[in-house]
Amino acid sequence: METISTIMTRRSIRAFENRPVTEEQIQTLLEAAMNAPSAGDGRPWHFVVTTSRAKLDALADAVDEGNALLKQAQAAILICLDESLEKFKGFGPQDCSCAAQNLQLAAHDMGLGTVWLAIINVPPRTAGCRKILDVPEPMKPFALFPLGVPAEKLDAEYRYDTKRIHRERWGGIN
Ligand SMILES: Cc1cc2nc3c(=O)[nH]c(=O)nc-3n(C[C@H](O)[C@H](O)[C@H](O)COP(=O)(O)O)c2cc1C
Repeated sequence: METISTIMTRRSIRAFENRPVTEEQIQTLLEAAMNAPSAGDGRPWHFVVTTSRAKLDALADAVDEGNALLKQAQAAILICLDESLEKFKGFGPQDCSCAAQNLQLAAHDMGLGTVWLAIINVPPRTAGCRKILDVPEPMKPFALFPLGVPAEKLDAEYRYDTKRIHRERWGGIN
């Protein structure tokens, strides 16, 4: 898929088929995530990968209030922020967000579905991820990405909005 087309057609997928996500696909997702830009090239991230049915089900109960989405997922990747690796203090969430978006776009490009589940700043979800995936302090669980072959097809959304564009100065019109 062309890059722009991948960007313009990606949607959050919350229903998955009962078909495996391969190790090769997981490897590609991790490579894409780790190729993201980061402030000062700090790469302040770690990735916890699970394909365990028991862990995915436990994450569903702990993180997504028992929603079916993690119970249907065939794998999940938790991005963790390691603040000790930040080259510029405070930039870690932005760095992890870059990795997260690369991961989402790579998944879509490969025909997989995923959705960003917010973990950082959501204390019960953070605690759930820590417990189920043994994430130690001071690592910060950042965001969780369930993965699977999509069982839903969502139309592309076109969100371009001229009201958000300011030419030459704030409020400037074309
Ligand atoms: C920072 C961030 C946090 C999000 N957290 C959640 C979440 O906790 N649960 C969820 O179902 N979707 C979550 N989403 C997905 C958004 O709901 C989704 O991206 C948005 O509705 C736009 O839809 P689209 O991704 O299909 O284009 C999150 C997205 C972002 C970027």
